[in-house]
Amino acid sequence: MIIALNNKSNLNKEEFISYLNSLKQISTNSTLILCPTYINIPLVDGVLLGSQNVSRTDTGAFTGEVSAKQLKSYDVKYSIVGHSERREYQKETNEDIKEKIIKLQEEGITPILCIGESKVERDNGTYKEVIKEELSILNDIDNSNIIIAYEPIWSIGTGIIPTNEEIIEVFELIKSILPNNKVLYGGSANNDNIDTLKQIDLIDGYLLGGLSLKPDKLQEFLNKLN
Ligand code: PGA
Repeated sequence: MIIALNNKSNLNKEEFISYLNSLKQISTNSTLILCPTYINIPLVDGVLLGSQNVSRTDTGAFTGEVSAKQLKSYDVKYSIVGHSERREYQKETNEDIKEKIIKLQEEGITPILCIGESKVERDNGTYKEVIKEELSILNDIDNSNIIIAYEPIWSIGTGIIPTNEEIIEVFELIKSILPNNKVLYGGSANNDNIDTLKQIDLIDGYLLGGLSLKPDKLQEFLNKLN
């Protein structure tokens, strides 16, 4: 299983150093990918690194941006792109996300593309169209080395998860479009629901937000997965 840990904008320097020490004690068969906030990236050693974002632009005169080339120089192997918080708060569009994926691919960094519908889109039945649209950016680019993370927006940080039937329906849709790509589930995955989630064979791993910040609880989660 692939377990991507999305720290979001959490953990200051001191907190992160102590967190990283605990994280390194974790024992698991799964592949852990740590995605810290940018400024904590140089503090990481001994753990597979991902970023939470990347610039659409190259290295150069783009104040405040971090390019794929720069990430590569810090040994970043994966990058989350299109997280719903960026789509919502930074108004990132599917076209922006496609440009980011291309920049990552130029540097050999594996994109973790987040997709998923809002509560309104779930309730009005348009969620499959939303997901297809979000995946359509991959139509004319090499999609062989991209991880997909299905994260229903209404499930992120809320403690509410879809039913297994709802997850299976979407995973089947994604895998019908991208049969060879790994697909993660994200959105309130935790120790209370992992026994239910793990019954779904189609899930290749998890993208964890809240749980990523608690190494002891994360160890429990990983034990339940094995
Ligand atoms: P959560 O976040 O696990 O706290 O719901 C997941 C995510 O936003 O990637």
